Amino acid sequence: MDAPTKTRVERGDELELTVDSLAFGGAGVARRDGYVVFVRDAIPGDTVRAVVTKRKKAYAEARTVALLEPGPERIEPVAAHPGAPWQVLPYERQVAIKAEQVQDALQRIGHLEGYELEPLVPAVEQWRYRNKLEYSFGTAPDGELICGFHAPGSWEQIEHVEDCLLASEAGNEARRASLRWCRERGLRAYDRRAQTGLLRNLVVREGRRTGELQVRIVTSDEGLVASDFDGFAEAVGAGSVVWTRALDVGETTAGGISEVLHGTEAIEEELGGLRFRISADAFFQTNTEMAERLYGLAAEYAGLQGWERVYDLFCGIGTIGLSLAPRAGEVWGLEIVEEAIADAIANARRNEIDNVRFFAGDVRLALRQMVDTSGRPDVLVVDPPRSGLSSKIVRRVIEAAPTRIVYVSCNPTTLAPNAAQLVEAGYALRRVRPVDMFPQTPHIECVALLERA
Ligand SMILES: C[S@@+](CC[C@H](N)C(=O)[O-])C[C@H]1O[C@@H](n2cnc3c(N)ncnc32)[C@H](O)[C@@H]1O
Repeated sequence: MDAPTKTRVERGDELELTVDSLAFGGAGVARRDGYVVFVRDAIPGDTVRAVVTKRKKAYAEARTVALLEPGPERIEPVAAHPGAPWQVLPYERQVAIKAEQVQDALQRIGHLEGYELEPLVPAVEQWRYRNKLEYSFGTAPDGELICGFHAPGSWEQIEHVEDCLLASEAGNEARRASLRWCRERGLRAYDRRAQTGLLRNLVVREGRRTGELQVRIVTSDEGLVASDFDGFAEAVGAGSVVWTRALDVGETTAGGISEVLHGTEAIEEELGGLRFRISADAFFQTNTEMAERLYGLAAEYAGLQGWERVYDLFCGIGTIGLSLAPRAGEVWGLEIVEEAIADAIANARRNEIDNVRFFAGDVRLALRQMVDTSGRPDVLVVDPPRSGLSSKIVRRVIEAAPTRIVYVSCNPTTLAPNAAQLVEAGYALRRVRPVDMFPQTPHIECVALLERA
């Protein structure tokens, strides 16, 4: 039989496609004569018209422009929201797909077996669960200043949002008040193409349990002075107001030069009976309620008896290490962002926990030194960014020779190869449990336990 001829697909082509499954990251998967097309904004069973946005030898990417025939599982979205692409799937399907994708990653990418995949922990709140939202300023076609999110796939176009369904009412009101104040002053948005103009981002962060609010306004470096923001703090009603001048053209809100315009430079949140200080530049899990469950699971997997030396790598403001400390002999935390380590040290003091030590450093370079200073860990917790652990870090972890490794992962496609490397080195993957931190989105968090076999 002849091999099927691959239909040539070009960037800009409009295709009619039927989606048969969902890929990691949430795109629909469709096939044209065996050639895979990843289709944004489409779910299994949908027939869509989609425009090709990227073409590679092995696959193409496309964006849905018209839904021709909805799939049988599709439900009405609550409201248009670029941050909630899976709201067209019933919640039970979202979590079932996430559990399947974890299994799929472990088996197909990691070739792992013999572990127990425990039932996914569903989210307590399916909407308004985020304690931090990063918005972008933009300009509407009629010239009006707007504040919302990037249109899907666009670095330039901003879609205004009136009610962000992932934020609390207080968070929404802080954004609306900020926008009102900026409009009244006649301030203009930063033009991402021309790289001119002023207002870039607005970050609203909330202590969900403490009610504390931080508003951070990010501008370009256009000769503004702090007094240009007189009245802003009163208008937005937040206990912490920070102004950041971004120094480069990228869209990231981290970095730049920050100045506290009003109140404190950090807010506080409560988690697992502890109180945490969170600086503007420090990472903090965006779903407070589910972070508590995630850390509870990490503690269960750590199985501490009270005498162990625990390493908390990629520790942020120390949340996991401090949660484990009362059940451990000692805890050593390592994190690259210095402000986060300052928070971690302050958090230990504030919670009167004295068997912890936190250090600023790159895990890749500083882990060996930590082992030399403290001795090898009995339990090692890692919670890396989406990119997972580099091969070098995996080698350093293996050298450190912990008895147990608790791996908190926000990306099963990097957990799987990392777990496979550790299994190769003599660890056994025992248990894995997904936790739904991000309803209405394809993002997957899970905790895994590896033990020296
Ligand atoms: C997913 S967050 C986890 C933070 C913390 N465990 C928590 O639950 O809040 C990952 C953290 O790793 C830090 N990080 C990234 N690369 C690092 C590296 N090479 N060395 C040390 N820390 C790093 C980031 O700054 C961030 O705080």
